[in-house]
Amino acid sequence: MRKIAFTLVLTAALSACGGGNDSEADGPATNVATESPATAVAMAGKDIYKKCVACHTIDKGGRNSVGPNMHGVVGRAVATVEGFSYSAAMKAKGGVWDDAALDAYIENPRKAVTGTKMAFAGISDAEQRKALIEYLKEQK
Ligand code: HEC
Repeated sequence: MRKIAFTLVLTAALSACGGGNDSEADGPATNVATESPATAVAMAGKDIYKKCVACHTIDKGGRNSVGPNMHGVVGRAVATVEGFSYSAAMKAKGGVWDDAALDAYIENPRKAVTGTKMAFAGISDAEQRKALIEYLKEQK
């Protein structure tokens, strides 16, 4: 009886070993899979946010500069950062910065909010805007 049990254990160990070798072959892919897709997208968004840092701080309580602080902007009512002097157009826009409103504004600021004083040409790539918005969502 004992001998049979040992043989079974050995067989199991050998096949586990074979499996190990297989997964080693696609090592780099395993590393990528450990990061959730949402995190990877937000990381790409952080890079895209470099286009915004000249005018927008992102840290909590960060000072307003050329533009208002961006911390917690997703879900925030439009034109409500204290101490920032918004254009009349932005003050009149109303609503909340949800995904759709941000997407439209980042794509083409002057088209989405005619008369805005944000001097930014916009980002035409939809994937880049999506990644950027995912990043903004994490800053709260
Ligand atoms: C050249 C400076 C500049 C750059 C670059 C810039 N912005 Fe702005 N942004 C502004 C200004 C100025 C305003 C205020 C607009 C107004 O009052 O009409 C603003 C307003 C905003 C608002 C509205 C905020 C609120 O409190 O209602 C959002 C959202 C925004 N910017 C996002 C971005 C993003 C995202 C980027 C990068 C892709 C970016 N901006 C790049 C200057 C800039």
